[in-house]
Amino acid sequence: MKIEFVAAAGACEILALLVHDGRQFAGAGAEVDTRTGGALSRAIGKSRVTGAAGQSLNVAGTSGADADTVVLIGAGDGGAFDDLAIEAAGANAYHAVKLSGAECLTIDAAHLSPEQAARIAFAVRLASYRFDKYRTTEKPEKKPSITSVRVVASDIRAAESALEPLAAVAEAVEFSRDLVSEPANVLYPAEFARRVKELERLGLGVEILGEAEMEKLGMRTLLAVGQGSRRESQLAVIQWKGGAEGEQPIAFVGKGVCFDTGGISIKPSEGMEDMKWDMGGAAAVSGLMHALAGRKAKVNAIGVLGLVENMPDGNAQRPGDVVVSMSGQTVEVINTDAEGRLVLADALWYTQERFKPKFMIDLATLTGAMIVALGLDYAGVFSNSDEVADNVLAAAPKVGENFWRMPIPSIYEKHIDSQIADVKNVGNGRAGGSITAALFLQRFTNGVPWAHLDIAPTAWTNKSINPTVPDGAVGFGVRTLDRMVADAYEG
Ligand code: BES
Ligand code: ZN
Ligand code: ZN
Repeated sequence: MKIEFVAAAGACEILALLVHDGRQFAGAGAEVDTRTGGALSRAIGKSRVTGAAGQSLNVAGTSGADADTVVLIGAGDGGAFDDLAIEAAGANAYHAVKLSGAECLTIDAAHLSPEQAARIAFAVRLASYRFDKYRTTEKPEKKPSITSVRVVASDIRAAESALEPLAAVAEAVEFSRDLVSEPANVLYPAEFARRVKELERLGLGVEILGEAEMEKLGMRTLLAVGQGSRRESQLAVIQWKGGAEGEQPIAFVGKGVCFDTGGISIKPSEGMEDMKWDMGGAAAVSGLMHALAGRKAKVNAIGVLGLVENMPDGNAQRPGDVVVSMSGQTVEVINTDAEGRLVLADALWYTQERFKPKFMIDLATLTGAMIVALGLDYAGVFSNSDEVADNVLAAAPKVGENFWRMPIPSIYEKHIDSQIADVKNVGNGRAGGSITAALFLQRFTNGVPWAHLDIAPTAWTNKSINPTVPDGAVGFGVRTLDRMVADAYEG
């Protein structure tokens, strides 16, 4: 997709004009209406379109409008046209015409600030994401026809420079979505690590630890998850040094289970294919580090990814096994399908011990129980620090991601006490399954300020409610954490 800023409409088959609530034309709308002899107001008058967000109306045969077709895009309340409303309007302009057969779309944003015009370009880019590298026989009429979007801006230079940091975020979200979309026969731990290693081109430092190195460090709970797989487990350590030399870093840790069969506690076959995206936490951390480097964020940040494949095998761990974690705590593995917490236990311990961070935030598609609790459009936040939790919760709504804070009450600690080891990896029965998982993780944080984001509900969507998020891999968490870092930890 080619997206560029232009000084005036023209030369494209379709022109998108924004309409606010109350059928108020924005920008060039009123003028184009006059030039077309009132074609726009006649069409809107006969339609149900009011200007509400999500509505659109095609008006064909608009000679005099600089385009064959005008598409009116509902942009909602004109007095509350904030960043998210602008993104929705830009994304919806693309969606309204993407299958029309036209190749070029102009979006009128000349009446908006250069920053807002840039945000429209950013939204079109996010909305037009597709993972189609494995589709070889798709009929042309099913593919989006739009290949070029031109955003009319009042100041092209200013819009271009406002787009730079947004483009860095968009590229990072795309990187994260690609990782999540890839099937597990392609994206196994070493391949994930290889793709992350390539991020060194952005100025990130990337170390990859293999099984021998993790063995030396005593990371037995992580290694136990991967021991039933033919694919070697990996730990990726990503560093961004954009802050002052010696300044304490902030740290992000991702669950990267490249495929989760459940192991010996094997999952039912129905829906098991979804478990290719059980690395969504690691993909979000990778995307975040990509974004921080891409926009040269003034912060020191660490990303740690625990990359494994959870398979049943003659060498797989068994229910009832006791494993010694890097922290020294012993873990009784009651259920091999509660593997994410085993991976994170060592990854969190390693992160705090090596980097002494200000805080750690882990992201993980950790529990099906999170989906039961919050439904598919909210992720859970569990934290021992109001400050860290509040910073996540303040950033998320600004970028269109939904989080809800969950409790981690100590009265449930007894549910994960083991008869024969220090802790067991599941609670008693299914009650509070996401909470007992968070309590388990907390035992491996060594008291460092920490938040755990359970993104099981949101890492993948088949029913997106956000026009900048196509169905499939969401890249969930990248934008929230990037925004949180920008708002609370830079400079
Ligand atoms: N990866 C799953 C959680 C999951 C389920 C993510 C559905 C996304 C969609 C995790 O490893 C898991 O299997 N958790 C178990 C825990 C149980 C054994 C205590 C679960 O949620 O059932
Ligand atoms: Zn599992
Ligand atoms: Zn899992």
